[in-house]
Amino acid sequence: MVGGLTDLLVGIKPMKAMGRHARFQALFERDAEKIRQAQQKQSFARETNKALQEPILAICLAGGLYFSIGVMQQSPGQVVVMALLLARTVSTIGKAQQAFQNVRLTQSGFNAIYNSVELARSMREPSHGGETPTFEMGVEFREVNFAFGAIPVIRGASFQAPKGWVTTITGSSGAGKTTMVDLLLGLHEPTGGQILIDGKPLPTLDLGAWRRMTGYVPQELMLFHDTLRANVTLGQPEFTDADVMLALEQAGASQFVAELPEGVETVVGERGTRLSGGQRQRISIARALIQRPKLLILDEATTALDPGTEAAIVENVVELTRSTGLTVIAISHQPAWAAASDEVVRLSEGRITGIERREASAPLAEALGPAA
Ligand SMILES: Nc1ncnc2c1ncn2[C@@H]1O[C@H](COP(=O)(O)OP(=O)(O)OP(=O)(O)O)[C@@H](O)[C@H]1O
Ligand SMILES: [Mg+2]
Repeated sequence: MVGGLTDLLVGIKPMKAMGRHARFQALFERDAEKIRQAQQKQSFARETNKALQEPILAICLAGGLYFSIGVMQQSPGQVVVMALLLARTVSTIGKAQQAFQNVRLTQSGFNAIYNSVELARSMREPSHGGETPTFEMGVEFREVNFAFGAIPVIRGASFQAPKGWVTTITGSSGAGKTTMVDLLLGLHEPTGGQILIDGKPLPTLDLGAWRRMTGYVPQELMLFHDTLRANVTLGQPEFTDADVMLALEQAGASQFVAELPEGVETVVGERGTRLSGGQRQRISIARALIQRPKLLILDEATTALDPGTEAAIVENVVELTRSTGLTVIAISHQPAWAAASDEVVRLSEGRITGIERREASAPLAEALGPAA
């Protein structure tokens, strides 16, 4: 119920906009009624148990007395001992029953937690080797396969993203673009083939160190209910004001931030709701850039921007690749990214159907060396 309510509150805007929120009230009430009935049953069982204990004890005693005196003709001494034993037995059974009921009451909670623990265990990240990754040559996918359960999503994908290049991955919705990036970040494990960083297979590398070398702007943005500054620095105190300003500048966000009365100290609201979609995207890009990553991954990171703002960000990022050797993998349908790219990788239903490279960028490919 709590899960359903949280989902509803997060997604209330479209529900309300389409006038469908009343339906959720009905669903909520149905669940509330189920819980009420279960609790009623529970209380009834508990109270009945308590109420019946005394009369049952009395009936048993009376029956026992009648049996031992009337039928068995036992002596008063034997009868007293028997009565005491009977009373103890009945109260022990009562206690056992109480304990059993307590177990039943807490069992559903225990099962839920146990299942969550099992699920978390089954999804534990596979252990990786401890070698510290380098990033001098680039990334290579070699015949990578991946499936969600039985459904293949990436099929024999091979491509390179050499250091200092801008590589755009493009393809229709559901083609597997986000999954490719998840594989590269070690969030999923390929079911076949290899992902190489500077020629070294990803599973042999220190995954934490590899991830810290990357800046990632996900397709599903997530801002925290905190200041713009905290959202960019992610609370890391070592970033100075100048770092924050530079990252905002590079992400094309400095102007709108400067226009806010409280500047970088503006609180963005829950999930960033006080900002526009495009403003949220630019804050997310600044968050990725401030880490000075070696590899920048942008998953549809500029879709909400007007062509002018997008072009400025593309230009800034390309400038960074030229000046700092930053490598970029951009998932995008936008012509601005394809036009600025050294390489465009086309993906269709998990297969790479084409790789286009710019003539001028070709010599860099050899930098990948043995991995290529
Ligand atoms: N967690 C998941 N469990 C099962 N299937 C998934 C999961 N995530 C993605 N898929 C499936 O994998 C396929 C590729 O998804 P992916 O998110 O990589 O597509 P995409 O190319 O990024 O699409 P889009 O352009 O819409 O973002 C889709 O068919 C999707 O249904
Ligand atoms: Mg995607």
